[in-house]
Amino acid sequence: MGINTFGVIGAGQMGSGIAQVAAMSGLNVIMSDIKDELLEQGVEAIEKILQRGVDKRKLDGTEKEEILNRITTTVDIKDVASADFVVEAATEYEPVKFEIFENLDQICAANVILATNTSSIPIGRIAARTKRSEKIIGMHFMNPVPVMKLVEIIRGLDTSDDTFQTTWDLALKFGKTPAEAKDYPGFIANRILMPMINEAIYCLYHGVGTREDIDTVMRLGMNHPMGPLSLADLIGLDTCLAIMDTLYDGFKDSKYRACPLLRKYVEAGWLGRKTGRGFYDYT
Ligand code: CAA
Repeated sequence: MGINTFGVIGAGQMGSGIAQVAAMSGLNVIMSDIKDELLEQGVEAIEKILQRGVDKRKLDGTEKEEILNRITTTVDIKDVASADFVVEAATEYEPVKFEIFENLDQICAANVILATNTSSIPIGRIAARTKRSEKIIGMHFMNPVPVMKLVEIIRGLDTSDDTFQTTWDLALKFGKTPAEAKDYPGFIANRILMPMINEAIYCLYHGVGTREDIDTVMRLGMNHPMGPLSLADLIGLDTCLAIMDTLYDGFKDSKYRACPLLRKYVEAGWLGRKTGRGFYDYT
């Protein structure tokens, strides 16, 4: 099936980033979220990143406008009915994802693939909420989406070869490099990344180092582009906690317990860059 119209559920940092790369690859995009205000913020973020491209002469003003014109927004998920392929990038909270997939299953034509950008929720668990488990797949983008090359593609138990191939090809069309992971908690990316970030938070919690020293060790000692605490702030501490809890619940192994300091920050609403405060202050 040809894919011309691409649906994105969620206009947050992942959803808007996915909408941007889809529009840049020439697809018409319908981006849906629950509030106009969230959609406006999402489009504003895309506009800002594209403008940076114009300023750096990587893009001209006409191309920028064409990309933006390919993106329409809606607060009514039913408008996604005309999409040929949908990616859900809503909050990393199971009940929300389940509801979205139950809705999409009703709304979208039977041949439409429904992908999830979940960072750790089992694909099979989401697929079980629909009547098209062979068309459910994980399409996990990395943050910031326009910059990061990887898309982790995760097959559920029931995902068909055709669904897998279409999703793989779409990632290539977006200019990304896909990698396949099996459907186990955290897949590959977060099974390795999140315990590393969590351990960095434990280092801070135990007073082994300051936040700056912990980040400097990993930046300059391991050549990571940013330290783990800065990266946690970029990803969102709520997302980090949700992923650690998914790993812990999924494996029932204490090595995946979230650091109490991470939980405390999330409870206080310190979610990282998006709230202006996390391990660092962004206000
Ligand atoms: N959105 C779009 N573009 C961005 C961006 C953003 N938020 N932040 C930076 N960029 C672009 C810049 O415009 C710049 O583009 P050009 O090369 O075209 O000029 C380029 O990225 C480099 O940016 P900077 O020079 O400002 O800064 P940098 O070199 O330090 O790079 C970074 C910034 C790309 C974020 C880099 O620090 C990095 O790669 N960090 C690690 C990111 C990472 O690990 N992401 C994965 C997170 S895990 C995940 O997403 C999965 C999950 O499920 C949790």
